[in-house]
This record gives sequence, C-alpha cells and structure tokens, in this order.
Amino acid sequence: MERVFQTDRAFAKEMDQKDPLKSIRDRFYVQPGEIYMDGNSLGLASKDAEKALLNMMDIWKKEGIKLWDGLFHYAGKLGEMSAPLINAHPDEVVITGSTTINIHQCISTLYKPTKDRYKILVDDLNFPTDRYAIDSQVRLKGYDPKEAVKVVKSADGRLIDESAVIEAMTDDVAIILLPTVLYRSSQVLDMKRVTAAAHQRGILIGWDLCHAIGAIPMDFKEVDPDFAIWCTYKYLSAGPGSIAGLYMNQKHFKETPGLAGWWGNKDDTQFELKHEFEHQRDASGWQIGSPSFLAMAPLEGTLTIFNEVGMDKIREKSLLITAYLMYLIDEKLAKYGYAVGNPREDSKRGGHVCLEHEEAYRICKALKEVNIIPDFREPNVVRLAPIALYNTYEEVYILVEMLEDIAVNKKYEHFSNERSLVV
Ligand SMILES: Cc1ncc(COP(=O)(O)O)c(C=O)c1O
Repeated sequence: MERVFQTDRAFAKEMDQKDPLKSIRDRFYVQPGEIYMDGNSLGLASKDAEKALLNMMDIWKKEGIKLWDGLFHYAGKLGEMSAPLINAHPDEVVITGSTTINIHQCISTLYKPTKDRYKILVDDLNFPTDRYAIDSQVRLKGYDPKEAVKVVKSADGRLIDESAVIEAMTDDVAIILLPTVLYRSSQVLDMKRVTAAAHQRGILIGWDLCHAIGAIPMDFKEVDPDFAIWCTYKYLSAGPGSIAGLYMNQKHFKETPGLAGWWGNKDDTQFELKHEFEHQRDASGWQIGSPSFLAMAPLEGTLTIFNEVGMDKIREKSLLITAYLMYLIDEKLAKYGYAVGNPREDSKRGGHVCLEHEEAYRICKALKEVNIIPDFREPNVVRLAPIALYNTYEEVYILVEMLEDIAVNKKYEHFSNERSLVV
C-alpha cells in the first residue's frame, strides 16, 4: 500500500493527533521519560490488567475455597475471550500452561507415528524452545531427531520460503509445527496456503502464534489448522510468565490428551475423583493441573481492551506506525549501515520492525542508556515494536533521531559490541 510520510517531527505529532487509538495509551503504564519498543517481548502492564488481578486477589481474600464456584470455568472463559483474536470457535480455545508445555501437549496428542509416516516437519528459524520440544517428542516415541525431525532451511537466514515448506511435505511427514510470525525477521507465513497444502497431503499442522497473537488478525475458521499455541506476555500484555493459549481444532476433541491430568477430565465428573480419566471434549480438556488464577487474571483485563478495540483497528495502526518507522530508517538511517531486514509487503510482515546493523548489540546498549527499550537478537538485529495500543508516532520519530545520534556521536563509542550475558 502506498503511504505518504514526511521526515519532520511536526508530521509525527500530526499523526498522533489523528490516531484513532490515541486514548488507549492512557490505559497502559507507559513510564515517563521512557520509550518502550519491546512490547513484542514483554508487553507493558495496563490498568485493566491490574484491576483484573486485584479483583482476583479480592475474590481470594473474601471467598477462600468458595472461589471455585464462580471460577471453575475461568480458563475456558478466558479462552472464549481470546477466540475472536483468531476467529476460532470459543470452545476450541483454552488458557493454560506455557507455550512450551502446550507444544508438548498438542504434539503428544496428535503425533501418532507409523512405520511410513513418522517425521515432524519444522523450520530452522523458529524459536529454539519449539525445536527442543519437537526433538524430545520424537525421542519419546523412540526415534532419533536426526532421522525423524525434518528441517526446512532458510536460504538467507531471514525468511522461510513457503514453497520450500510445501515441497518438504513428503509422504513420511506426520505433523508440522511452524511459527506464524518469525521472531527475528517478522516474516508472516501464509497459514492458509501452507495449512491447505499439508491437509491435501494427509499431514496435520499446528502454528506457534507467539509473535502473531495480538499483532495480526487471524481467521482460524478459514485456515482450519489442527492446533495452535501462543504466549500471552508479548502483544497481549498479560504479564511476565502469564498463562499461555492453546487452540485445538474441534475435529480433534475426540482425541485423548497426550499429557492427561485431572483438569482435562469432564467437568461433570472431575470432583468424583475416579481413577479412570474421562476426557472433557473441548479445548479445556487439554488442561493438565490446577489453573493459576493469579497468573491468568491480568489477561482478562487486557483481553477487554483487545475485544473493545478489535484486531482490525490494531493491525491498521500497527501497519501504519511500522511503515512510518521503515520510512524514517530508509530516509535517515540507511547511510549509517542500518537496514530493514523484514519483508516490506503488509501481508508479509508482523508487528515489529527488524532493524539490522553490524553493531546491533552495541546500539541496543546505547539505546537503553537513553531510556529507549529495544531488544537485541543474534546476530545483528535490533527488534523494534511500536505497539498499536500504546506507542506514538512521535516516539518513533525520537527513536530514529537517537539511532542517528548513536551512529554519529562519539559519546556512544564506549559501548562495546562484545556480548555479555544480559543485554
Ligand atoms: C515463537 C516463540 N515460541 C515460544 C516462546 C517461548 O515459550 P514459553 O512461553 O514457553 O517460554 C517464544 C518466546 O519468545 C517465542 O518467541
């Protein structure tokens, strides 16, 4: 899409004036004097999240054990509230576990290797925890990951070619796990095309939505994947270590969970405490142990904001503000060795901008010194996420000014590009 931007600060202010989401910023704890560009790693706290958490504390204080009466279906309720973000049926979503645990849960449920079809297909750019989980799942079934995990390799270390993924869908592949948005390059994979290709070949497929949920709208009624998992602490701003999401396509409700626990038992008989597991036939049947209400409650607050604003408006602003950032990088920073590493087309890029520079590590340290919070990803990426709900165009303008200053001003030269444990 053709967008017209200008390089001066007055233009950024004008964009902020016109921003239909500008009032939402006040609902977040934006720290005075700080520019937070890391909401794709850990989203900022909101007043809505805080209120929901305090309300949960209050319920606990006042009701003790009686709280179960009102909260027995809380994980399912949050699942229902999350379903519009991916246009799924409400009973296909539950809030439970962590991303990594949910990968184990979904794979151990749906991966049923046979002599001829036993491989799991992955890519080599996904976040490592996905790969660790997949490798351990094939090992649990008695295979060597070198033989049973088929890896589609990126040609350039940035992007995954969907055609290469489809080509790798050979008859020996049983199940696929891919990221919807790549955590480094921000590439969006075409879920609809890849899912359809997998199903045509009799292969099951699931998606890791960690960098997609709350950043891009998704339509699971159309895509029809087998499963999906996601964290809620990035764009969804539900807090550090907040409880994750799990989508199970209703066609798999008949399956028995790979990792069964009493919270996956049928609601009606759970408290009969029998030793025979009776599976609850909806996504909540993939819970394992007791839900962690205090770690879930903030999500209730932020989902209120997401459902009030709607993913279409969030995506609209996200595309505009990231396009503005890319424009300023091209106009003002390219001459200093900075380059945009994410795809340019709207349909191919997620909520963050992948800024590449050979001294990316040093630049991140210098940015933090001036209260601008990015994050660094090996080998040369500064990830910058102007979040639709709480970042401003003027913040993007100041960020680019600082990136320019870091490139030209000797006072930042003492920051080293040598890695230390904590960036
Ligand atoms: C794509 C992806 N998957 C998984 C995770 C992390 O998994 P967990 O939430 O279990 O720590 C991350 C964390 O950044 C991620 O980017």
